[in-house]
Amino acid sequence: MSKTTTKKPQASPNGQLTGSEAPARGPHWTGNGAEQNNSAREGSAANKKASKQAALQGIGIKKSYHKGKTPVPVLHDVSIAIAEGEFVSIIGQSGSGKSTLLHLLGTLDSPDAGEVRLGGERIDNLPAKKRDKLRNKHFGMIFQFYHLLPELTTLENVLAPLMIAEGVLSYRLKRKTHRQQAREILERVGLSHRLKHKPRELSGGEMQRAAIARALVTKPRVLLADEPTGNLDRKTGDEIMSLLCSLNESQALSIVMVTHDAVIANRAHRALRLTDGRMHSA
Ligand SMILES: Nc1ncnc2c1ncn2[C@@H]1O[C@H](COP(=O)(O)OP(=O)(O)O)[C@@H](O)[C@H]1O
Ligand SMILES: [Mg+2]
Repeated sequence: MSKTTTKKPQASPNGQLTGSEAPARGPHWTGNGAEQNNSAREGSAANKKASKQAALQGIGIKKSYHKGKTPVPVLHDVSIAIAEGEFVSIIGQSGSGKSTLLHLLGTLDSPDAGEVRLGGERIDNLPAKKRDKLRNKHFGMIFQFYHLLPELTTLENVLAPLMIAEGVLSYRLKRKTHRQQAREILERVGLSHRLKHKPRELSGGEMQRAAIARALVTKPRVLLADEPTGNLDRKTGDEIMSLLCSLNESQALSIVMVTHDAVIANRAHRALRLTDGRMHSA
């Protein structure tokens, strides 16, 4: 898909609008919200609207790992806000903490300090079971190496999250609807002709398409993408990016994507940079 000029709300780290009048995609639009363009400064009403629209926020996130007794700090003080329907990319070198941040935003791990909020509600401190349920319902995740289950067909891989979300009994009762749902999303990502293929019979791009379908079959609010093009050649990576951009637009899906590739990152509405455990404009 080519770059578009669709106007999108921009949320700063604290959830305030910072660029609703800015062109939506491209290298020229790379603010983290700290710097506002003139038109973005217009009107506090718009600011309030975007503040309400923040789909996902990380506020003052700190995270260290431990190597024996020695703490290894990774994220020092990271704040980020993603508006409803916004596509934000985060560029960072290997080891800069990109995956760590995505895991924290998706409640797969807990921050040492700070908060994660979904639609304004704090979610990082929920009991484990509630967090699991919320994650299954509201988050989709895709990864560099796809993480498809090798013994399942494409269709079965996409059905798996529905089975987990519903439980076996309820899933069986709604089996037809679910299969229809899975087929529809597979058609949307261009894989209708590969329903019965196993992952080893798919190309890299097809595996990522299947993984995207699996991530979206439960209709999540937010898609977290960890280097989704990292294992693909440039052309296939571009195709996957086009697919993500079109899903973002057609389904008002919020996307947070981490990557080490500035070209890929600049196709999002907004690109941020993670350096030394802190977020900067790219
Ligand atoms: N489970 C872990 N235990 C200890 N250190 C870890 C763990 N996960 C990541 N790290 C370290 O944290 C840093 C950031 O890792 P990561 O978030 O995977 O970076 P990126 O995704 O940007 O490559 C790295 O130095 C890595 O070695
Ligand atoms: Mg990583």
